[in-house]
Amino acid sequence: MVVSIRQATADDLIQMQNSNLWCLPENYQFKYYQYHILSWPQLLHVAEDNKGKIVGYVLAKMEEDAVPAHGHITSLAVLRTHRKCGIATRLMRQAHARMQEAFGAHYCSLHVRYTNMAAFHLYSQTLGYVIEKVEEGYYADGEDAYSMKVTFPAGQPNNEKKVKKIKKKVEDTAVSSDSSNTLAESVEKIKLDTPSETTS
Ligand SMILES: CC(C)(COP(=O)(O)OP(=O)(O)OC[C@H]1O[C@@H](n2cnc3c(N)ncnc32)[C@H](O)[C@@H]1OP(=O)(O)O)[C@@H](O)C(=O)NCCC(=O)NCCS
Repeated sequence: MVVSIRQATADDLIQMQNSNLWCLPENYQFKYYQYHILSWPQLLHVAEDNKGKIVGYVLAKMEEDAVPAHGHITSLAVLRTHRKCGIATRLMRQAHARMQEAFGAHYCSLHVRYTNMAAFHLYSQTLGYVIEKVEEGYYADGEDAYSMKVTFPAGQPNNEKKVKKIKKKVEDTAVSSDSSNTLAESVEKIKLDTPSETTS
């Protein structure tokens, strides 16, 4: 099964909306898809099979006027026939990559149903999202949502500052070679402790 991931075009929107109707109870008017593609065309991606059928999509956006800049996943789905093949992972990584390149996003947020174990696994285990809070009764049927986010490596100024500070200390301080090793090790440790979300 050959499935390719590419940026969506306006012609894909109907198939994206159909996939959404098949897969999720959260549905949107067609103009909401149009609003996304007109505002953030880089953030809509589809998974297409070798016959040109759309088998998955990610619909993402930037949070307007937010500081720091960050993206949000509006909707993600893969048709049942094509699940567990890594398609959602590829779609999400594309959206992450493009929101950083095109809009300088520091992080990405999303909501997921409390009982949606497949999506929760994808976000937390595969993509490194962490739970920010539980939003009670977030969905129309009253189910709670996890509000989650993943911080991109470039969006971690605190760690970068720490590394610079320690490096400067190593350079400035006339210390013995033993203690300078310790500082160099600290620099490496902070680098290693910095979570890295790889993009495709
Ligand atoms: C959630 C969904 C998008 C995942 O799509 P997918 O293409 O099957 O996901 P992937 O193949 O990329 O799998 C990603 C990870 O999630 C895991 N996963 C996928 N489905 C799972 C399931 N039913 N139960 C447990 N883990 C699951 C995979 O094993 C994989 O883990 P790994 O990286 O450790 O191997 C898909 O199940 C779907 O469309 N569901 C309905 C719509 C939906 O819930 N959208 C999300 C709304 S927030």
